[in-house]
Amino acid sequence: MDRSFKLDIQEFGTLANGQKVTQFRITNPNGLEMRLIDYGCLMTNLLVPDRSGKLVDVLLGFDRLEDYVKDSPYFGAVIGRYGNRIAGGQFSLDGTTYSLPQNDGPNTLHGGVKGFDKVMWQAAPITDSTAYGVAFSYESPDGEEGFPGTLTARVRITLNDQNEVTLDYTAVTDKPTVINLTQHNYYNLDGMGTCLDQVMTIYADQYTPVDSTLIPTGERAPVAQTPFDFRTGKPIGKDIGADNRQLAYGRGFDHNFVLNKQAPGLLSLAAEVYSTKTGITMDVLTEEPGIQFYSGNFLDGSLKGKGGLVCEHRGAFCLETQHFPDSPNHPEFPSTRLNPGDIYQTRTVYRFGRKD
Ligand code: BGC
Repeated sequence: MDRSFKLDIQEFGTLANGQKVTQFRITNPNGLEMRLIDYGCLMTNLLVPDRSGKLVDVLLGFDRLEDYVKDSPYFGAVIGRYGNRIAGGQFSLDGTTYSLPQNDGPNTLHGGVKGFDKVMWQAAPITDSTAYGVAFSYESPDGEEGFPGTLTARVRITLNDQNEVTLDYTAVTDKPTVINLTQHNYYNLDGMGTCLDQVMTIYADQYTPVDSTLIPTGERAPVAQTPFDFRTGKPIGKDIGADNRQLAYGRGFDHNFVLNKQAPGLLSLAAEVYSTKTGITMDVLTEEPGIQFYSGNFLDGSLKGKGGLVCEHRGAFCLETQHFPDSPNHPEFPSTRLNPGDIYQTRTVYRFGRKD
């Protein structure tokens, strides 16, 4: 094997307005390959060796730009300005009420109609000695999708020689605002089929129960003795069909878990996933206080992904590291406020390995 990093840059497609979209293909010395595009700051492919050494693309996605533009359920994208939901498309800051597009029933989901997943980012390759990747940046104008303040967001996505994909997010604003950036990879550690046999561990003693529109009630409920107890690891499908009102609201798992932390902001192990079939393991580490575990419940088999593969019901899971949903309307949750002069800064790592 060629034991060096590689970075290859090629055209991925052209947007309706004529803008060219570029794909960056990064390979690490162990043969892992990550592909990123500057539309949506989006990861299209992540090829990880299974226990026999064969590469498995562990991401759901498309082959063509048009499909990402048309009707992607946020496959692989960076989500902003506010990942997850804001109730009723409204929040107040310093006495002013801001109205946002209601693009998910009565609520705002993933930054509105044209979130950070649907804009072009500036992109520059990173070629450090132990990690290769791309530095992305986007300046969101004051008032975009209803949010106050010009927000300059930067996301560095790198792959190192330890098989870690690291996302480093930073942002600054010129007016008080709210921010909650995340990344929306749909993982399937088998590369196909459902994700229901994959074994999930989430290091959370509590989760935030929701109402029927998936807005947190404000409560932090213990996971003990509920289907939400992933602390010792179990197949995703084990309790997904349990008779439980929270599961009925989400049509499966679609909930924010309150991560166990020694101290706020510490980079700590949030979740582990393992496929008995391929032997591929994934650890998620984050500085964020929460993680949304979404079990692909709204995938219904109607989308055709890479190589024509049907994106089947529960064909992938998302682990979106984040502040809690609807925090701007919940003063009891960790704050998502960003003031001028302050820097929003947060790191999440997805680390890959294999078990024999
Ligand atoms: C949300 C789901 C939603 C999915 C795709 C997830 O982050 O929690 O409810 O269906 O994104 O939009």
